[in-house]
Amino acid sequence: MVRLDKFLAEMGKGTRSEIKKYIKQGRVRVNDKVVKAADLKIDPDSCLVTFDDVKVAYEEYVYYMLNKPKGVVSATSDNRNKTVIDIISKDDRRRDLFPMGRLDIDTTGLLIISNDGELSHRLLSPKYHVDKCYYAVVEGMVTEDDVDTLKEPVNIGSEEEPMLTMPAVLEIVSAGEDKSEVYLTIKEGKYHQVKRMMAKINHQVMELKRVTFGGLKLDEKLKEGEYRRLSEEEVSMLKDPSEQSSSG
Ligand code: URA
Repeated sequence: MVRLDKFLAEMGKGTRSEIKKYIKQGRVRVNDKVVKAADLKIDPDSCLVTFDDVKVAYEEYVYYMLNKPKGVVSATSDNRNKTVIDIISKDDRRRDLFPMGRLDIDTTGLLIISNDGELSHRLLSPKYHVDKCYYAVVEGMVTEDDVDTLKEPVNIGSEEEPMLTMPAVLEIVSAGEDKSEVYLTIKEGKYHQVKRMMAKINHQVMELKRVTFGGLKLDEKLKEGEYRRLSEEEVSMLKDPSEQSSSG
């Protein structure tokens, strides 16, 4: 059972105070009766709630795939920058949405936005080695030696405080004197990990885009700044990444 105003706020119908006002105005009905008490306890699974005569469907969890653009931070609120949550339209926005993990402000690509805290915790836990593949444009010519180097742990920390990476897969897409294109697949999510790994082998990252996360592929139809719901199949894939990668 949940308070009516809390339920409507979670379903994105406004802030708690706006919703209290709407309820007073008689715009909310529960099982066809106008309700004026914001603190009424309802069972969202069995009650029919309408707002301005439109059914408010109850969804416990939602999952969106966003193609994150540059210039947007992976946070729920920020004083200076637009956040990934600001991209979610008013109709889809709920108070409990958050990004599953972080991409740097200048990184683009696949980011999951959800309200499923337990799944997020599991996927981001260092115990679960969920594969994440990044496409990068880097300075200089990437070589097979670089590929071999990143197959082994490298220290992306300092001498005093080493931070060893797990073996990663570097694939060369193109290699020129000035710049190269690569895919780097890692199983961790350390701070600035890809940039630091590439810097370690003397290739500054110029462009970075995440293309896969835990078996999910970035939908090529999504332009930067666009998002869509995950299909049921994709949600199952996300919930069971063991088929794509190992845990433990
Ligand atoms: N690694 C980085 O360096 N930056 C990101 O945004 C993601 C992975």
